[in-house]
Amino acid sequence: MDLTIESVIAPDRVPDLVELMRTAWWMADRTPDDVVQLLEHSDLVVALTHHERLVGFARVLTDYTYVALILDVIVDESHRGAGLGAALMDAVVDHPRLADVRSLELVCQPDLMPFYRRWGFTDQVGRSRLMRRTTDPRLTN
Ligand SMILES: CC(C)(COP(=O)(O)OP(=O)(O)OC[C@H]1O[C@@H](n2cnc3c(N)ncnc32)[C@H](O)[C@@H]1OP(=O)(O)O)[C@@H](O)C(=O)NCCC(=O)NCCS
Repeated sequence: MDLTIESVIAPDRVPDLVELMRTAWWMADRTPDDVVQLLEHSDLVVALTHHERLVGFARVLTDYTYVALILDVIVDESHRGAGLGAALMDAVVDHPRLADVRSLELVCQPDLMPFYRRWGFTDQVGRSRLMRRTTDPRLTN
């Protein structure tokens, strides 16, 4: 497959990213302005393009030492099940700037746990529990 991995999303591609995000329940209402802000303040971005079309995205917030939080992993609906999600995660997990980071973290729904286990993610987190303070009711239901 003619797949390209990119580390930036140019401003003129923001509308494509907004469209891609519309297919995921927690990102469906993001505006172009929000997405510009989100890109500006993310430490790492991974974009997958197929024949110049944006088909996958993930981003990372990190201190490059102790922790990296992987966020907003998404593949275009019509391209799912073909290995693009795995290619996206390979690019994140093998990112050279994350090589020395102690912990990679993410939050996912239970049905995706087998997917993330492939890269060594575990839900065995000792006595730790995720706690959240949010204005978004979707994230507490
Ligand atoms: C999760 C996602 C990125 C995976 O992308 P993808 O391109 O379909 O992934 P791949 O083709 O590399 O393969 C994924 C594997 O995980 C499985 N998988 C993918 N999505 C799944 C889901 N929602 N539930 C259960 N299993 C899933 C597939 O069955 C496949 O397994 P297989 O290789 O044994 O057949 C994609 O389904 C997506 O964008 N989902 C909506 C957004 C989302 O939920 N993102 C995750 C945020 S934590």
